[in-house]
Amino acid sequence: MAKTATIISIANMKGGVGKTTISLFLASALAIEKGYKVLYLDCDFQRSAFDYREHEKNNVYEEGEKEPYPIERVSPKYIYDEVKHNEDKYDIIFIDIPRITDASDGEVVTVLTFCHYVILPIVAGELEALSIKRFIEMVKGIDEYKKSKNHQFAYFSFLNKRNRRKENIDAINYMKSLNVPVFDNSLSDVKALAKPYTYESILATAEGRRRFEPFFNEFIKSLKL
Ligand SMILES: Nc1ncnc2c1ncn2[C@@H]1O[C@H](COP(=O)(O)OP(=O)(O)OP(=O)(O)O)[C@@H](O)[C@H]1O
Ligand SMILES: [Mg+2]
Repeated sequence: MAKTATIISIANMKGGVGKTTISLFLASALAIEKGYKVLYLDCDFQRSAFDYREHEKNNVYEEGEKEPYPIERVSPKYIYDEVKHNEDKYDIIFIDIPRITDASDGEVVTVLTFCHYVILPIVAGELEALSIKRFIEMVKGIDEYKKSKNHQFAYFSFLNKRNRRKENIDAINYMKSLNVPVFDNSLSDVKALAKPYTYESILATAEGRRRFEPFFNEFIKSLKL
């Protein structure tokens, strides 16, 4: 039987934690460095990943430059169809979700149920404990359901935008107190990680490699890619 795509969402109900930026770094590195066939589905009504690719296409790259992987816009309503249609054509599908204003936001929750992996970026100092707790409860609900059906599912969190403040540890400890697995490697709050590329891998530069590779390796190992 043909292997179907691994479906991944870097998700958090909070906005601005790096969901899109880190998804694009991962998608580009997996496609360019590892040779995976990647599809990036942008479910965010703000279309930031889709618009970012368009911007690069129009301003940074020569016309006709081959895109290393497609970035497509899709409404959360149609994500199931889109995944079913593409799962045997790709190795990895990323789903970029919008920020959620309410953890019971049905459409987005449904999108997460199509994933094999949900990865939660957390940032120090801005832990709105109650709202993130509800989001995690929702992800745990999906986990229980999937396990009961013997479907593949796992979730992890990681610290993004690490800075010099003590709250980094507080954020990690908070995740651990909720029994959420946390990656050992975090990502610093640095210029090299502020701007994603969709045509190039961040691992292509020495600075990018230094900042991203330990996290990337742990990501690949944890998701068995
Ligand atoms: N590790 C990092 N270091 C520095 N800047 C970062 C890092 N991660 C993300 N950023 C910056 O943080 C901002 C928010 O990132 P991003 O748009 O990826 O978040 P998001 O969670 O997708 O937000 P939204 O919920 O609005 O979709 C961007 O300006 C991005 O450049
Ligand atoms: Mg985003």
